[in-house]
Amino acid sequence: MSQTDPANATDVTSRTDEQTVSTTDGETVEETQPEWTNYDADGETKLAVENLDVHYGDDHALKDVSIDIPEQSVTALIGPSGCGKSTFLRCLNRMNDRIRSASINGTVELDGEDIYQDGVDLVELRKRVGMVFQSPNPFPKSIRANVSYGPRKHGDIETGLLAQLTGRADPEREEELVRLSLERAALWEEVSDRLEDNALGLSGGQQQRLCIARCLAVDPEVILMDEPASALDPIATSKIEDLIEDLAQDYTVVVVTHSMQQAARVSDQTAVFLTGGELVEYDDTEKIFESPESQRVEDYISGKFG
Ligand SMILES: Nc1ncnc2c1ncn2[C@@H]1O[C@H](COP(=O)(O)OP(=O)(O)OP(=O)(O)O)[C@@H](O)[C@H]1O
Ligand SMILES: [Mg+2]
Repeated sequence: MSQTDPANATDVTSRTDEQTVSTTDGETVEETQPEWTNYDADGETKLAVENLDVHYGDDHALKDVSIDIPEQSVTALIGPSGCGKSTFLRCLNRMNDRIRSASINGTVELDGEDIYQDGVDLVELRKRVGMVFQSPNPFPKSIRANVSYGPRKHGDIETGLLAQLTGRADPEREEELVRLSLERAALWEEVSDRLEDNALGLSGGQQQRLCIARCLAVDPEVILMDEPASALDPIATSKIEDLIEDLAQDYTVVVVTHSMQQAARVSDQTAVFLTGGELVEYDDTEKIFESPESQRVEDYISGKFG
């Protein structure tokens, strides 16, 4: 949205006092405080983001975002549509590099190493920082082939030299990886007797767990999820939520969600982005939902806008 866009202008008719001016999209105007995002999470920092700015052409999609994401926990990203959640998530494994108009400034460190420095191997980075998207996107191949795709690509199955030369996989290693990944994604019991079936024949919820299995098969450290349950029914959603909580015991999970209940249920800490691409508040999930510092965050959480 450009700065001259009338939709972004302050609605003077709803002005009551300095603190409660509303914009036409219902947001209160307030001065954000740096300490609202200065959250010191429990646990080691896995991803350290410093002064991150993203522009798409002239549009400023993310403004000076600094945030430390702790390992082995679930961090939820919430906020109204267009506030930059997906943009932020894509910065964490350099998926925005694929968008020609995007320019990214600032630093993102994974275990203390800047992922934007020259010479970073993007294939390796995306193996360490995997991603699961909003709509399940399995390949039109067998369930087995979907899960073994990544390990084959990365050479984790072709362990022997001959296998590497001929491009063939070690069948036992492959079998084990497929089973372990599907078990970890809580899908094994439902598909173990039909691994050769086309993945597109699975239900939406099963397809999404298959995509999570595909992501786990390459042994990532961080799993980014962009609204992973928004296309699913309540039962499939609750399976994904259980899975997210379970995965956080071993992985660092960062999940974008439009559902406050979901964020409250599954996450340890919550980052709230608001209009203009600003990170407004970041804290323990309980604190964010029970007593946020920002009036705008409180309004957003209580459904007054967004
Ligand atoms: N590929 C792109 N090219 C240009 N502008 C983009 C692109 N992707 C996102 N934007 C813009 O950047 C801003 C943030 O978008 P983003 O998709 O990150 O928001 P979001 O918070 O994920 O929204 P939603 O909740 O609707 O998914 C928006 O103004 C959007 O129009
Ligand atoms: Mg999005």
